[in-house]
Amino acid sequence: MFPRGAGPAPDPAGAHHDRTIRSFQPRRSRVTPSQRDALLRLWPRWGLDIDGLAPLDLPALFGGLPVVLEIGFGMGEATAEMAAADPDTGILAVDVHTPGQGHLLRLAEKRGLTNVRVANGDALILLRTMLPPRALAGVRVFFPDPWPKKRHHKRRIIQPEFVELAASRMAPGALLHCATDWAPYAASMLEVLTASPSFANAAPEGADGVRAFAPRPAVRPLTRFERQGLAKGHEVRDLLFRRLDDRADG
Ligand SMILES: C[S@@+](CC[C@H](N)C(=O)[O-])C[C@H]1O[C@@H](n2cnc3c(N)ncnc32)[C@H](O)[C@@H]1O
Repeated sequence: MFPRGAGPAPDPAGAHHDRTIRSFQPRRSRVTPSQRDALLRLWPRWGLDIDGLAPLDLPALFGGLPVVLEIGFGMGEATAEMAAADPDTGILAVDVHTPGQGHLLRLAEKRGLTNVRVANGDALILLRTMLPPRALAGVRVFFPDPWPKKRHHKRRIIQPEFVELAASRMAPGALLHCATDWAPYAASMLEVLTASPSFANAAPEGADGVRAFAPRPAVRPLTRFERQGLAKGHEVRDLLFRRLDDRADG
């Protein structure tokens, strides 16, 4: 799609990574001329391929800023808005969707953002092989693919294995922020996260004394998928879980 070395690689981790179950649908994606232009010009400076070969040097990539990982940024509007609102946080934004990568690069350039890096490939490979323990100040998963059919539930990204993998790369106190408009997935996320020994629910207690879903944090802008869900009458749920310090006594 791009001249060699100029844009995101089509399958950056190649066949050396097990990818029997993926949380995304590989799709042939058409990029617009302006997305292509952004990818050609800006990828070498702001993009990186998730090749699963060598760990990332986050302090060098983000000039020492605390780094939040956003998994599945889609077209990146919410990413750019959150990055602009918080220039003291680095955003490592991951997706496999080439048009979205071009779109986010364009938005970041327009707004003069220097705290966003766009990663191309599977977030699970990134977490597993390219991030050191306790490296992240937060993880965001906004409107992950709901995989509504039962036989596809295994593709949902929010599962116990993912949650513990993410936890291992998060610093104590870091927030895992998920949102979804798919009620059965929201219930499953709440169950999985509540059962995790690595996190505590950071939502305020409800009238019944139980912590469940969180009110939508003001810092999270409406995302493109969220808007589509709201138009269909779906209810949106936010989940906020804080990484516990597993080294703490008692
Ligand atoms: C339903 S969309 C939501 C996009 C955006 N967060 C929004 O709310 O508009 C989910 C996105 O997650 C991406 N995705 C799913 N699994 C992924 C993975 N393992 N690694 C990277 N991106 C992934 C998909 O490509 C897709 O763009």
